[in-house]
Amino acid sequence: MKADIVTIDGPSGVGKSTISRRVAAALSFTYLDTGAMYRAVGLKLQESRVDLSDEISVESCLKTLSLKLLPAKSSSDDVGVVLDGLDVSREIRVPEIAMVASRASALSVVRKKLTLMQQEIGKKGKIVAEGRDTGTVVFPNAAWKFYLDALPEIRMQRRAKQLRARGKEVDEEELLAMIIKRDHDDQIRPIAPLAKAVDAHVIDTGQLSIDAVTGKILEIVR
Ligand code: DC
Repeated sequence: MKADIVTIDGPSGVGKSTISRRVAAALSFTYLDTGAMYRAVGLKLQESRVDLSDEISVESCLKTLSLKLLPAKSSSDDVGVVLDGLDVSREIRVPEIAMVASRASALSVVRKKLTLMQQEIGKKGKIVAEGRDTGTVVFPNAAWKFYLDALPEIRMQRRAKQLRARGKEVDEEELLAMIIKRDHDDQIRPIAPLAKAVDAHVIDTGQLSIDAVTGKILEIVR
């Protein structure tokens, strides 16, 4: 039996968040931003100064993890996160925390913990899950799977625009290097790497507007 879950995976800056939020709103499904969970864990590990090569310390730091996802304040906002009682919605959305999240996400203790939390949230169904492994590992029985892709340069330009809109200064070369490194690390990790599920619909978002991609996904789901 397939679950009434839509999974949307792909590399960073491909438009996953905006598209997933819109698909979820159109279907009246709950939007699950799994990347926000990895970012929050990355922030916690960084603030606790945990050595990521020491899995026992990572595991013990995560014993006290309390994570709550808050709905996005508007259709152009990311979802919020409350970490151990503190709203860290803004802190987790910087490129440095994305890099820490990517490193932390390669650890099996981190993946096990977050995958279980995500599967628990998905039990109720009617979920649009967005991430790297939601179609392959977290919800392999999802009824509708999508993999979004686009060239790194296009994704960098989109990220740069988002960061500038938030008043951040952007070094495009550095941002491109970070995106390429993060994708590479996410793809080569041994556990739950970024990968296309065999039964996923692949959409290149490079030349398509957000509306066009959202429309394509909704057409397939409906
Ligand atoms: O989607 P994002 O940029 O917010 O994700 C941040 C990092 O978290 C990403 O580089 C890899 C990791 N991640 C993951 O390993 N698995 C997921 N399902 C989602 C994110």
